[in-house]
Amino acid sequence: MWKGNLTCKHSSFIIIFFLILCSANSIDIKRSEFPHGFLFGAATSSYQIEGAYLEDGKGLSNWDFFCRIKGSIANGDSGDIAEDHYHRYMEDIEILHSLGVNAYRFSISWSRVLPRGKFGGVNQEGILFYNKIIDNLLVRGIEPFVTIHHFDYPQELEDRYGGWLSPRMQEDYVHFAEICFQSYGDRVRYWCSINEPNLFAEFAYERGTYPPSHCSPPFGNCSAGNSDIEPLIVVHNMLLAHAKAVKLYRDRFKSEQSGVVGIVVHSFMYKPLTDDKWDMEAADRALAFNTAWILDPLVFGDYPPEMRRYHGNELPKFASEERMLLRDSIDFIGINHYGTLYAKDCIYSCCICNDSSCNKGSDRAIRGFVYTTAERDGVPIGEPTGLPRFFIVPQGMEEIVEYAKKRYLNKPMFVTENGYSSPQNQVDDYHHDVKRIYYLDSYLAFLARAMRNGADVRGYFIWTLMDDFEWSNGYSVRFGIYHVDPHSLNRTPKLSATWFRNFLSNCSINHVESCNSISLMNKDVPMPQSE
Ligand code: NOJ
Repeated sequence: MWKGNLTCKHSSFIIIFFLILCSANSIDIKRSEFPHGFLFGAATSSYQIEGAYLEDGKGLSNWDFFCRIKGSIANGDSGDIAEDHYHRYMEDIEILHSLGVNAYRFSISWSRVLPRGKFGGVNQEGILFYNKIIDNLLVRGIEPFVTIHHFDYPQELEDRYGGWLSPRMQEDYVHFAEICFQSYGDRVRYWCSINEPNLFAEFAYERGTYPPSHCSPPFGNCSAGNSDIEPLIVVHNMLLAHAKAVKLYRDRFKSEQSGVVGIVVHSFMYKPLTDDKWDMEAADRALAFNTAWILDPLVFGDYPPEMRRYHGNELPKFASEERMLLRDSIDFIGINHYGTLYAKDCIYSCCICNDSSCNKGSDRAIRGFVYTTAERDGVPIGEPTGLPRFFIVPQGMEEIVEYAKKRYLNKPMFVTENGYSSPQNQVDDYHHDVKRIYYLDSYLAFLARAMRNGADVRGYFIWTLMDDFEWSNGYSVRFGIYHVDPHSLNRTPKLSATWFRNFLSNCSINHVESCNSISLMNKDVPMPQSE
């Protein structure tokens, strides 16, 4: 087990690297610039780290199944072993504790707890596993911040009725959520219902790169699917599933457990490609078709007017009682923010995708008739990272938070994910990951600016604690602040882990001598108030 003692004094070597890197930007963010009780943590998800894919009664998940289809995942990788967190969870909790976080976001594997969904019973060993995690976090003063569903679900639900394409999935999800509330709600105060419905719908049903791999041209060539319609149906079912689970929580559990439930949205920021008014409108549309697609229904009870305007009957309609159920069904907004893209109008101009980072299908309603790209006149919007559409644009953090603040009347927000993946084969990333430090530090600085401007943000989670299974990219893309040796699975802190530890102890990057340890007790963490 790694037991390194990270202190401010040991950070001088970071500072040398770091000052060179960011002297031009003179970024120097400190924990003390965030309110007392602000949650600072790291985030992970079950399939990406647990492994133990059929152990102790766990059933086959959609990802277990998908990874076995040749060609679906880079290098034929899978999450069968992943980071072996199932067996090493105590070591990982010790690592979190040594970092000094006061919160940890993780997800519950649906197929570990309910191997066959509603078609079978509860797997008590699965329940026990998360009980051990929650209890061990709490003993160390770390708040469990639990995602109920993060992309993985029992394959049987896919085989029987087509998973999220079917409204039957709503009841299966509510059943799973109920088991989670019943089993863990006495100790868990923060729940994320579903992780990134928008990104999941896009990757699984528009591009076909996530299971069940549905798509149609020009988005991709899959054996089944309709990229113009299916993502809309999937999100529709997910939104209703969320709202039903929240009703259940508020009716049956909230008075005793007094927790809060939010949803997590994948939130790119979009900037107009030119200062043409149509491109400005296109940037607004891109935001509406990405972020507001999920959040408008859960705050106001219906899809964004921008979507209604451009979609025909393919955009499903909510019945009036469904609108009532949906309205005001989140206590907080979870923002996963990584990067910013340019947006160009495709209603009044012809859009041809001609750079590697642009998405196909820009001339379609499902994309809001917007072409998004990371390049303007051949110049990238920011530094590239390990993923083709994630460029480093720190001010995007302030802008996306400001967007959510304005559109949703400053509902409480958490940055549930933010992180950096190094371009592939960059060995430096194993230890001297100065770019990651620059990324995290500068995004945090812009988050602090948004908060000084009144945004009600209550917490921030780094994606991710350790290098893990990055979905269709397998292990080739690394986001971790800990390196994991692919053979021994030993965890080693990267410089960014040291930086985070120092930051959490209120070390300033430019003034090491000003390091003052501050301690945040669990009881100090404020609960977002739901109306
Ligand atoms: C968002 C997803 O929630 C997470 O699973 C993924 O690994 C990161 N983004 C990075 O792509």
